[in-house]
Amino acid sequence: MSGNIGAEQAALAAEITERIRRFVPSTDDYQKLLTEAMEYSVFNGGKRIRPMLLLLTFRALGGSGAEETPLVDPFLAAIEMIHCYSLVHDDLPAMDNDNYRRGKLTTHAKYGHAMGILAGDGLLNAAFEAALSAEEPDCSGRRTVKALRILAAKAGAYGMVGGQAVDVEMTGKPMSEGELAFVYRLKTGALLEAAMQVGAVLAGASDEVVAKVGEIASRVGMAFQIQDDILDIASTTEELGKPVGSDEKNHKTTYVTIHGMRASREAEERLSTEALAILAGLPCGAAGEPLARLISSLVGRTV
Ligand code: IPE
Ligand code: IPE
Ligand code: MG
Ligand code: MG
Ligand code: MG
Repeated sequence: MSGNIGAEQAALAAEITERIRRFVPSTDDYQKLLTEAMEYSVFNGGKRIRPMLLLLTFRALGGSGAEETPLVDPFLAAIEMIHCYSLVHDDLPAMDNDNYRRGKLTTHAKYGHAMGILAGDGLLNAAFEAALSAEEPDCSGRRTVKALRILAAKAGAYGMVGGQAVDVEMTGKPMSEGELAFVYRLKTGALLEAAMQVGAVLAGASDEVVAKVGEIASRVGMAFQIQDDILDIASTTEELGKPVGSDEKNHKTTYVTIHGMRASREAEERLSTEALAILAGLPCGAAGEPLARLISSLVGRTV
């Protein structure tokens, strides 16, 4: 799995992987196989886009470097563990039934279906344990609680899980443009919104700025899923590290099946440009540049 992720992002992804390691459960006790499956699900690769968005939003909005380890790292781990759990469950036979992810066997294909379900369950709990270990300098927990509310809501029935539910329900059925937008906003957009809004909250941003960050993230999320759908058609399994043609196999309506390839690429570009324009309106200055570069790089990515 190579791709067009620049050296800057590859280095940051590697750094994030190390920073989140201490939050992922690992044991030699009787449930060793479970924690092995959980570790496999997190450390089998992955671009780490959500923790990267969280961290770069925190930095863009003036978050303090001294707070990164005690306050931000727990949330980097939390968002990535929620994402990884969503992938493990998404790949299960009852959902997309895919056997490869990040160039390796999916968790259920390697550890069995039951362990796939449980590894996902374990990661979701570990995510909240991690986030609850965040420490603020004044011990108030004010930003932590606010960030936790966002994380919990965006991961749940009004967020990612809700989107996945409608995605499954509508499998094999035609979907209207509005229904498709709803599914994308929830199944993919919600965790990207959580990532960026948590970053903003932890940096101490005002409610107004947090709302603007949500507007940026919802566009990034929509564009991100459109490109995922494009890659499902236009990439190769070797390059992508997960089976191409999964959407067709599962009779999914996607942005590409509704609008075609060209219009999908145009929509992705437009959404990303809009996101960058809103970002440019925030008072980030040069601190916002790495975040802007990350958002730009997601358009037309190869993985
Ligand atoms: C894949 O997400 C699932 C979608 C929401 C499209 P990523 O493309 O971020 O997957 P990894 O973490 O890099 O494997
Ligand atoms: C999944 O969308 C979104 C999730 C919440 C996991 P997809 O089913 O298109 O993701 P991939 O292509 O399997 O990564
Ligand atoms: Mg799916
Ligand atoms: Mg899938
Ligand atoms: Mg996909």
